[in-house]
Amino acid sequence: NNTISTLFIGQNFIKLSSVDSTNNFLKQCLANSEPLTEGTVIMADEQFAGRGQLNSKWLSETGKNLTFSLYLKPHFLPAMHQFYLNIAISNGINRALRDAFGINATIKWPNDIYYENKKIGGVLIENILSGHHIKHSIIGIGLNINQSIFQEELKTKASSLQLILQQRVNILQVLNEICKHIEVEYLKLRSNKLELLTTDYLAHLFKYKLPSLFRINGEEKLGTIVGINEQGNLMLNLDDKISVFGFKELEFI
Ligand code: BTN
Repeated sequence: NNTISTLFIGQNFIKLSSVDSTNNFLKQCLANSEPLTEGTVIMADEQFAGRGQLNSKWLSETGKNLTFSLYLKPHFLPAMHQFYLNIAISNGINRALRDAFGINATIKWPNDIYYENKKIGGVLIENILSGHHIKHSIIGIGLNINQSIFQEELKTKASSLQLILQQRVNILQVLNEICKHIEVEYLKLRSNKLELLTTDYLAHLFKYKLPSLFRINGEEKLGTIVGINEQGNLMLNLDDKISVFGFKELEFI
């Protein structure tokens, strides 16, 4: 009953009707020492405690969107290079949307999926380290598919595939395309093609090289994204000097 056309990503596929969070489900499997094969995908129709980055909540209308978690074992990846996993995953989602659905999506640093000025998806990666390497990686992905109504404060900030394409979209087809493209990007990561991954990431980075407003330490500043460093920090040209920022240190406005 598995239609996912990949080598390993999504070959072990579990679909739940309701769960607190698919990331939590995988964490629980690891905590119980259940054997998990690399590439396992847990998908849910409903999450009643979906989580986003920075302790935020991830709200998603039941049955309308794609919410799943992928289990990977990137043992080869040094902990200091863990951001390359974010890059590979973002690139995979982006490529799936572009190649299979013709959507000119972008990646908003670090790993939000955007269309024009609206968010359509997000990624929550939870790595478990062992020494200086990554032992387990839980990659949670939420993508708005057929949701067409958003709560008032999200109306100008969120969109979905249905709103973009003006037609209903098959959720499992999107999952299949994302798994396929993530697999391609993950294999690049496994063969250490870090420069290629970074080039592709920057090619679709939201506001890359465009002077934009940011909120930094409570102050509005005009800056230009000029790149990311090996740790995944954002490099901004501010007043003709390059400054480097971590995830919590700046906001796009
Ligand atoms: C973000 O943009 O803040 C990240 C959102 C990640 C949401 C997904 S939905 C599937 C997985 N399970 C969760 O609880 N969160 C992720």
